Amino acid sequence: MRIIRTTDYDDMSRKAANIISAQVILKPDSVLGLATGTTPLAAYKQLIRWCDRGDVDFSEVSTYNLDEYRGLTHDDPQSYHYFMRKNFFDHINIDLSRTHVPDGSNPDADAACADYDKLVHDAGYPDLQLLGIGNNGHIGFNEPDKYFSKGTHCVDLTESTIKANSRLFDREEDVPRQAYTMGVQTIMYARMILVIASGEAKAEAVRRMCFGPVDPECPASILQLHTNCVVIADEAALSQCPEA
Ligand code: PGA
Repeated sequence: MRIIRTTDYDDMSRKAANIISAQVILKPDSVLGLATGTTPLAAYKQLIRWCDRGDVDFSEVSTYNLDEYRGLTHDDPQSYHYFMRKNFFDHINIDLSRTHVPDGSNPDADAACADYDKLVHDAGYPDLQLLGIGNNGHIGFNEPDKYFSKGTHCVDLTESTIKANSRLFDREEDVPRQAYTMGVQTIMYARMILVIASGEAKAEAVRRMCFGPVDPECPASILQLHTNCVVIADEAALSQCPEA
């Protein structure tokens, strides 16, 4: 695990965008694993600017997102389908038919998850997987648990995640209680993992991810076992990791 300390959120975002951009320049038909949340927003904005200028070309790229709320249609403004279009896909030269997000509108959880696993498998798994980290150490929606999950599955969101995500909804009651998420094993199949973290609220999770025991109670801690994992975090997120 390589840790890159940045001064602040903008510095973190530019460095993350540089790495994603380099991946796409080196391999124009890259498979990218993408994440939602507030952390990647400025990195996506930077990539949009570079794409506008012709510095990075997404026309052959395929993408697979980590997760989606169960029960939301693709055009629901709270869905991750919608988030990705609004914040990234609609502003770059990507072929939308090559973008993939688990189908939260399919009420048959087993079918929706099996279909998604097959898609990711058939794509050969991501060349680069972008990850945020939850305050509780979750990756995707893989919440603290007694064991590490494998493939795509349906999860009950924890109270801490519902609370953290409620800032993006009008009311906490509106946050869906379940989601479909890529499993930890699937995430680990990516050839490179890029974790981004910003702010004091992430400091404990970042410390456990980087220096704690490998423990499913902090799902991100398994990334210590990945052979090509880069963490880009700002001073505040690394404030409990003086040794990094
Ligand atoms: P955030 O979410 O980027 O909105 O902080 C990260 C996560 O929960 O994985």
